[in-house]
Amino acid sequence: MNRTLIVVKPDCVGKGMIGEVLKRFEVKGFKVISLRMLHMNREMAEAFYSVHREKSFFDELVRFITSGPVVAAVLEGREAITVVRSMIGSTDSVKAAPGTIRGDLALGLTDNCIHASDSEESFDREFKVIFG
Ligand code: CMP
Repeated sequence: MNRTLIVVKPDCVGKGMIGEVLKRFEVKGFKVISLRMLHMNREMAEAFYSVHREKSFFDELVRFITSGPVVAAVLEGREAITVVRSMIGSTDSVKAAPGTIRGDLALGLTDNCIHASDSEESFDREFKVIFG
């Protein structure tokens, strides 16, 4: 069994899509083993997205992720990181395939509904930021 972390972002929480997003993972067979609703502050957001610190979109990303509440969940299941990444779709929602979460629930690039860990190293860092 593997673990991954997802964050339902402020756009998706604002649209009332928390249940829809979590349902997709549960229907697939993942277990929700930790769940937290929180409003990230700037310090948390910068630590969470530290790998993007030098990117041109970093400030916009931090502003967006701190703009409202998010819901973070740890999911457990076979090949969790790979399978969950394929379920969320491409980063840019307009390029995300129908049937993926971003393909069905979002239109934005920064406001793309959901984040998921892309490696075990990312999971470890992200888990520490959100769940301590
Ligand atoms: P996420 O999977 O949370 O990882 C980094 C986030 O940066 C990404 O989703 C988007 O919300 C945001 N972002 C904004 N602009 C870009 C871009 N040009 N390329 C990649 N990510 C971007």
